Amino acid sequence: MHKSKKPSGGKTKERMTEPIQGFSKLSKQEKISWIVSRYTQDPERAAQLLSAYWNEDPKLQQLHDEFIENTITNQYMPLGIAPNFLINGNLYAIPMAIEESSVVAAASKAAKFWLDRGGFTAEVLGTEKVGQVHFFFAGGTAKLQTFIDQIRPKFLEDTLGITESMSKRGGGIKDIALRDLTDRLPGYYQLHCTFETKDAMGANFINSCLEQFAETLKRESAGYVGFNEEERAIEVVMSILSNYVPNCMVRASVSCPISELDISETVSPLAFAQKMVRAVNIAQASPYRAVTHNKGIMNGVDAVVLATGNDFRAVEAAAHAYAAKDGRYGSLTHAKIQDGQFTFWIELPLALGTVGGLTKLHPLVKLNLEILQHPSAEELMQIVAVAGLAQNFAAVSSLVTTGIQKGHMKMHLLNILNQLEATEAEKALLIAHFKTNTVTHRGAINALESLRKNNGASVL
Ligand code: MEV
Repeated sequence: MHKSKKPSGGKTKERMTEPIQGFSKLSKQEKISWIVSRYTQDPERAAQLLSAYWNEDPKLQQLHDEFIENTITNQYMPLGIAPNFLINGNLYAIPMAIEESSVVAAASKAAKFWLDRGGFTAEVLGTEKVGQVHFFFAGGTAKLQTFIDQIRPKFLEDTLGITESMSKRGGGIKDIALRDLTDRLPGYYQLHCTFETKDAMGANFINSCLEQFAETLKRESAGYVGFNEEERAIEVVMSILSNYVPNCMVRASVSCPISELDISETVSPLAFAQKMVRAVNIAQASPYRAVTHNKGIMNGVDAVVLATGNDFRAVEAAAHAYAAKDGRYGSLTHAKIQDGQFTFWIELPLALGTVGGLTKLHPLVKLNLEILQHPSAEELMQIVAVAGLAQNFAAVSSLVTTGIQKGHMKMHLLNILNQLEATEAEKALLIAHFKTNTVTHRGAINALESLRKNNGASVL
């Protein structure tokens, strides 16, 4: 019997919990009963809430249940649309899955602003994916290199069964190189392998190839006459793709004459352009600012990555590693003023897929890809980079003009009113009231209280 004390709101509540064996074997209903009876204050209400989030269509619910293990319900995320994105001359309406108020509004605002100024330009700079076999070798690098060069055809031969269909689509293994990292860790080497995975994100393909490379490496070294006994016993520690993809890159940009940057009534176009450049320079100079600056970029990036069923953790990890590539964490976006022209751009590593994974499985992901006109992985990279750039443009332009809170709190007002359980009629009156008044949490409470005191006649 395990006893644990769970603090709750200042009070200390005694809890009795027992570890469970075979939770995954329980039925969904049994899992729910187990969790709500042990870990919630009101099991009946908790069970009702969980079932309220199930899909009415049992087939659709089963599909979602089977995406992961131990599913007890679905946790919703709003899906919004940011229209009017002109990218390389094509007009997109971008689906965004995100819970944070003001992100979709900010993206839409930036899209509209640049629509009238030539839109966004985007290009893919590279599509190379990476995977590595990490191993230890007891001999010298020159000897190992000779061996690897000799067995390279075997690596390719042994993976023919895995690479066949990818080759037909124009992808496959690009290179298998030996990397010597013995200066960092004695005896440590990598097979640093590069891949082209076309429209697939490629994780399964890459990992399958790597695990076969590891087998080939062990088999061939065990019988290699050029090695002594110790050298033959190569120790493979692991084989796994790398989410760091600095050669799977996309660039997106916007540019216009400074005179067209009439974004603010209080800041001149030139002063605005200069402030934008300064803001980006600050993010280059200060990691504290850069993290928040890039977080704003990822608001846009992750929302589209999620909506299209891609792996946002992989995208996040790669983006932040790339932001630190020069030895100090900095901005993923850049800005310059040259010959009277303002240019704002982003360069971002993005490993995305538009086939495989959830893309054919999750009905909303399928629909979102349809809304995006069935993009190739390269087109999706461009769209995602543009969403990140637009988000950053919107955030930083607010920061250097009005500040972020005015717009953010306006968008957040509905959340506050919902929290206060305002009726639809009250919401309408309060939204009208706050069109010309600054939104604060306290201000919203006061306004709602006055409204109720005055029987809906007046907010003040
Ligand atoms: C909030 O989600 C994102 C911002 O903090 C980004 C930024 O500061 O650039 C507004």
